[in-house]
Amino acid sequence: MSETAERMEQLETALHDCAGRPSEARVTLPPEAYYDPDWFALERAKVHERDWLLLGHVSELPQEGHYLCVDVLGEPLFLVRDEAGQLRILSRVCRHRGADMRPEQDAGRARGFVCPYHHWSYKLSGGLRHAPLMDGSAALDPKTCRLPEFRHEVWQGFVFVTFDPDAPPLAARLDHLETRIENWRLAEMVVLRKQDWPAPWNWKIMVENFLEGYHHIGTHARSLEPIWPGESHETESASVGTTMLRFPNSADYLARRVHRPPSAEAEGLGAISGLSDEDLAASLVMSVLPSLTGFLIEDRAYIFRILPTGPEATSLTTYELTHDELLQTAGAKAKLPAEFVMFDTFHQEDLALLARMTAGLKARAARPGALSLYEEPIWQLQRYLSGKFRD
Ligand code: FES
Ligand SMILES: [Fe+2]
Repeated sequence: MSETAERMEQLETALHDCAGRPSEARVTLPPEAYYDPDWFALERAKVHERDWLLLGHVSELPQEGHYLCVDVLGEPLFLVRDEAGQLRILSRVCRHRGADMRPEQDAGRARGFVCPYHHWSYKLSGGLRHAPLMDGSAALDPKTCRLPEFRHEVWQGFVFVTFDPDAPPLAARLDHLETRIENWRLAEMVVLRKQDWPAPWNWKIMVENFLEGYHHIGTHARSLEPIWPGESHETESASVGTTMLRFPNSADYLARRVHRPPSAEAEGLGAISGLSDEDLAASLVMSVLPSLTGFLIEDRAYIFRILPTGPEATSLTTYELTHDELLQTAGAKAKLPAEFVMFDTFHQEDLALLARMTAGLKARAARPGALSLYEEPIWQLQRYLSGKFRD
């Protein structure tokens, strides 16, 4: 066996061992799992190439011709609403000689796509519209030539892609999550703010940080801990490939943000109509592994799109979403800059710690560590990965 194969076998054995441990004996994955390029290639092949990955939200594509460019696992894609109003995920690779047709604007509205190299043009549905000066070629059949299309599924307004033609439908494994979050009506939300962030670390470092609330006591000691203390949150049971945390909202929180009539003085944008008392009693942190993590509070959702680009490189995009009805209330729009501060503060705190994790895990002295009972979602990620390696 080659040295690489041996190393991979050891890491896989460690993964299955982690995933099989009882709650009081759980440990982190070996540090190499967070930077080894061979392990990353295996994870990519067994996890990301075969599961569903988040691309965007339906409100980004309200009308025909709206498109987004997203690169997923090195694959240049258009997410587009075509002439008939259908969402499609098309390759951006020109059928002539393979240029990436990325337009100047990564998002916008178009009548079709034109390759800048020799001006072949395509319809929004992907079919070839026109290939100039190609009449003499018998190798091109303009009727059948079209941009390759990939499978997509829309769940709660979020558009996912898979490169695996045999991947089981996504929604089937998200029943539990859907029941829990349905009153937020994520599919009807609009994007308040979308941002790309540098994330020079392994995708699991990014995901694991979002999955657990234990770190509120350290990373967010001054920002989130006073509102949602690490000590008071619970991990709810969730199906494999999802996680769900519940952070109780204190009476003071509800008084400041929910029970005051929306006005310029009240904090937040009010409460989304249709949320039950039980919904308002706690804020939720959820994930649809491996690419979506989210934080739902009474007036909005924060969604993280996490797509690996290398063993220590991740494409990170954050979405803040809410309902138009809340934006129409008095003074709501004027409040937004101040409202964004909460997110910016805790997100910057996380990013600083993720840089420390990245450096620490590569040190010679790094070893697997014990997980607290509060870190059950880290084990849920291990269990999900272990299942993917056994599939
Ligand atoms: S490569 Fe696109 S038109 Fe030639
Ligand atoms: Fe955090």
